[in-house]
Amino acid sequence: MSRLFESVRLGQLELRNRVVMAPMTRSRAGRNDEPTDLVVEYYRQRASAGMIVSEGIYPSFAGKGYCRTPGLVTPAHVEGWRRVCEAVHAEGGTIVAQLMHCGRVCHADNKPADAETLAPSAIAARGEMYTDTSGMQPFSPPRALRGDEIAGVVEEYRCATQKAFDSGFDGVELHGSSGYLPAQFLSTGTNRRDDAYGGSLENRIRFPVEVLEAMTSVAGADRVGLRICPGNPFNDLSDDDPEETFTALLRAANPLGLAYLHVIRLHDAVLDNIALARRHFDGPLILNDGYKLDEAKRAMDEGAGEAIAFARAYIGNPDLVERFRRGAPLARFDPKKLYTQGPDGYTDFPPLSEAD
Ligand SMILES: Cc1cc2nc3c(=O)[nH]c(=O)nc-3n(C[C@H](O)[C@H](O)[C@H](O)COP(=O)(O)O)c2cc1C
Repeated sequence: MSRLFESVRLGQLELRNRVVMAPMTRSRAGRNDEPTDLVVEYYRQRASAGMIVSEGIYPSFAGKGYCRTPGLVTPAHVEGWRRVCEAVHAEGGTIVAQLMHCGRVCHADNKPADAETLAPSAIAARGEMYTDTSGMQPFSPPRALRGDEIAGVVEEYRCATQKAFDSGFDGVELHGSSGYLPAQFLSTGTNRRDDAYGGSLENRIRFPVEVLEAMTSVAGADRVGLRICPGNPFNDLSDDDPEETFTALLRAANPLGLAYLHVIRLHDAVLDNIALARRHFDGPLILNDGYKLDEAKRAMDEGAGEAIAFARAYIGNPDLVERFRRGAPLARFDPKKLYTQGPDGYTDFPPLSEAD
């Protein structure tokens, strides 16, 4: 049997197999951005994963970017996530909360009217984002965070981490990729600050390192992961030297003793992100992006990482681990229903029947 189906421990996180459900924003949160019964059911169906990484969850209203995405701010958010975590734990699963502050990647219509759009520098992302109010709209221009406001944003991550543990999550993951706030601080294209949080490499890594310190202060570093994708241009991100930037970030993160690094490889990229992660990160790796069963088994059997995360395969295959075990065909999904409302294309994928 492949090691893919063997248990593994990442810090304090116990995985009964090495198939991780990758974080996926699905825009099904309720009226006040709380997880609803439907969201509980979606995660319950997928609890046989070795570990679930939740969809990106905002740590403050300013950090909300997309419509109908959930938060970890209000008591209703905590209560909703508590029911999600209970459902996953009842099935014997493990689940961590991904904290995602979108920074400048947002449209004002997608968040409360008094929530500002904030970023390291006042540079709008080029491109558009969907809103329920008026369809596709250009990204909202951000206001540059003042130096004396940054500690408050770090504190929001700490509070959201506390709320994640109050909800029953087994751990938390910092979303450090895809052009969101930590990546905006890291990258030369989005960070033009001339204070302690910008300019030099040491200054650009300061914000994500402080956020990690805040997150690890709540329940220990062995329950905190970091997700990265060096060189990812998504959401209009650019950096002069991603290899140098992420080497410095990982070296600064090592002394914390994180539970894992979740690394997204980039196809057709110049950088080999997995090699970079192996070289500079001291702890376990979760590998992601475009893995099929054969390659995932090979990667686990060769020890390329400790677990593999699957996103799109989990959309139509709630019982992905069982399908992988049996070598059964995978169900497809309709991309038009990724971010729509209701169960359609979300919780209506049947598991393999016993007869299959
Ligand atoms: C619908 C959808 C939503 C996603 N939302 C998130 C997210 O909230 N946070 C995140 O880190 N990545 C997100 N991703 C990226 C996936 O986690 C993953 O990195 C990517 O899909 C590649 O993995 P795959 O080839 O197994 O699908 C999303 C991907 C999809 C398809």
